[in-house]
Amino acid sequence: MEMISVALPKGRLGEKVYAQFKAAGYPCPSIEEENRKLIFENPEAGIRYFWVKPSDVAIYVERGAADIGVAGKDILLEYNPDVYELADLGLGKCRMCVAAKRDFREQADRVLRVATKFPHIAGRYYASLSRDIDIIHLNGSIEIAPILGLSDVIVDIVETGKTLLENNLEPKATIVPISARLIANKVGYKFKHTKIGELCCRMEELSQKGQACHD
Ligand code: PRP
Repeated sequence: MEMISVALPKGRLGEKVYAQFKAAGYPCPSIEEENRKLIFENPEAGIRYFWVKPSDVAIYVERGAADIGVAGKDILLEYNPDVYELADLGLGKCRMCVAAKRDFREQADRVLRVATKFPHIAGRYYASLSRDIDIIHLNGSIEIAPILGLSDVIVDIVETGKTLLENNLEPKATIVPISARLIANKVGYKFKHTKIGELCCRMEELSQKGQACHD
């Protein structure tokens, strides 16, 4: 049987994503066992899953190590991988925001110092506003930067808003809404078109149902 290989984002989002694959008819009992393995397959369902770091999913898919995968729109916007974006799964919803200390006031005559894990998204956003910025590229705990005076603002993901609140920061603008997307390798999609197409339809159906439940 033709196998579809799927790069899943390790972590909280990945658990929800796998649950949706399972509900769509692509279960893999071995992935549900408590262990440290990273590759799982169910030949009967024609599916093989890999757990990878969320920010690496698009690399596996772009280079064809996985036929399909699930990546956040933030990663797709930041790295612009050469893949097909097949569906919005409606999972992992959050937004890319500009945030700063509550008392921060814009000074248009000064270069704005922006700390972020997403330099391309931040760069494009401020270019669209014709605003000169100095990007400070960090890898995590971005919220610390304005508190310590390393930056004026941050560009980061906000989900519940709790991290900002607990660090005395607040969102100042929303750049773009984010959610998990089903992506496909361009060549794999051509050769496994029927199977990937069917999988995509079933996943979309479930996303719409999930959406209806949340509305
Ligand atoms: C993300 C983001 C914020 C937090 C927002 O971090 O960078 O820190 O989640 O969530 P909230 O609005 O619900 O508080 P993540 O957990 O992905 O880890 P990171 O520190 O590596 O960025």
